[in-house]
Amino acid sequence: MLSSLLTLSSAISRLNSRPKPSLHYALSSFKAPKSHKQQIRPNWSPRTSSLYSLSAHFSSSENSSSPITQMQTIVSKDDLVVLGIETSCDDTAAAVVRGNGEILSQVVSSQADLLERYGGVAPKMAEEAHLQVIDQVVQEALDKANLTARDVSAVAVTIGPGLSLCLRVGVQKAHKLASSFNLPIISIHHMEAHALVARLIEQELHFPFMALLISGGHNLLILARELGQYIQLGTTIDDAIGEAYDKTAKWLGLDMRRSGGPALEELAQVGDAESIKFSTPMKQHKDCNFSYAGLKTQVRLAIESRNINAEIPISSASCQDRSCRADIAASFQRVAVLHLEERCERAIEWARKIEPSIKYLVVSGGVASNQYVRTRLDLIVKKKNLKLVCPPSSLCTDNGVMVAWTGIEHFCMGRFDPPPLADEAEDFVYDLRPRWPLGEEYAEGRSNARSVRRARIHPSLTSLIQASLQEH
Ligand code: KG4
Ligand code: ZN
Repeated sequence: MLSSLLTLSSAISRLNSRPKPSLHYALSSFKAPKSHKQQIRPNWSPRTSSLYSLSAHFSSSENSSSPITQMQTIVSKDDLVVLGIETSCDDTAAAVVRGNGEILSQVVSSQADLLERYGGVAPKMAEEAHLQVIDQVVQEALDKANLTARDVSAVAVTIGPGLSLCLRVGVQKAHKLASSFNLPIISIHHMEAHALVARLIEQELHFPFMALLISGGHNLLILARELGQYIQLGTTIDDAIGEAYDKTAKWLGLDMRRSGGPALEELAQVGDAESIKFSTPMKQHKDCNFSYAGLKTQVRLAIESRNINAEIPISSASCQDRSCRADIAASFQRVAVLHLEERCERAIEWARKIEPSIKYLVVSGGVASNQYVRTRLDLIVKKKNLKLVCPPSSLCTDNGVMVAWTGIEHFCMGRFDPPPLADEAEDFVYDLRPRWPLGEEYAEGRSNARSVRRARIHPSLTSLIQASLQEH
């Protein structure tokens, strides 16, 4: 399994020789993204319960008798080094990132072989695969950064949304490391991480900005007003675009070893995008929500009516068959992306009503690595006088850098948990948030087409942060 470890970037440099931040610290002089100085204080008080909650996580009780405030060590943001761990879906990823945005290492182990075998993510298999590689992935990330766990300042880990069984593997690893080395833990929202990683690569990307987050499980249009303050302008009422790419690729008999999206993008390049007139989803709904279930059905019917046999891999298909599959791929992609374009255009208008000063649209998540998606959205963004920020492909698909960086952003605002207790039992109940909205829904944009299941959803990250800010 180690052979499948894909190291995306190698170690860049060793930590400088400044003293390592101690366990409990405050940051008094660090370079904030907006280049103003900010005081960072640890916000935890002595632990009373072994099960932390997000409200505890975001509480900022400054108990003067707390041992933490007595042990403050002043460090600069550049001294911060955060290990990020990501296991929410089918990639096991870890990375080490410095507070100034320097990526010290990045390691991703993908479950491509499983994806191909099962045509999708099977939670139990995925959990097993994460368990097999998690220790090696984290160790390799530390090694590539020329560090040991002792040298890092904090561990950031994705706690949701995602598959519980998978999330648990990463969170358990983070807890083990954090308790062994007395490190604070930063709990991360996977979709926030997809959005915020853009701030690591684009220094000028200040709040407020817009983001379109497109992955295998999510289609989100958000307005990011501040760190942790998001308005959800639109979401999918059924499937996400990545799911539609993956299913279409599978039905067309494409090589799924590197997931369906890239294979479909490649095939679409040689197809005629106008050959099949699929209808654009949700034309009659003048909102910013998405739907891909209907397009998937249209594609399936088109494939069936042309007698395409997915059992015959495209590599063995006849020339005519291959050309027919390419036409379907291109036609699907044109409409799938047109749906994104239409919703983005409307969302920019909505967002401007709330925050007239927005300058950027971030496009991130696995599907954002698609070149056609980037090109088409760039046209929309230019037409609307905004700038597009699209992270490089390795930072669009699931990765540990985005988790570590989001950890740094929250850590600098004083939002983190104390090191866990050393004696957490094997069956410890971790705070996992498989269904966890990022922001609060934009009331005026609520769709009458929405039939979203709301059972067992955690309160949104934004509402939790707002509640904790009001408390203090
Ligand atoms: O963000 P991500 O890595 O994982 C999730 O959070 O879901 O996104 C994975 C999705 C998959 O559906 C994959 O097929 C899609 O992103 N994807 C692409 C491309 N690269 C990855 N879709 C279209 N074109 C691509 N080049
Ligand atoms: Zn993702």
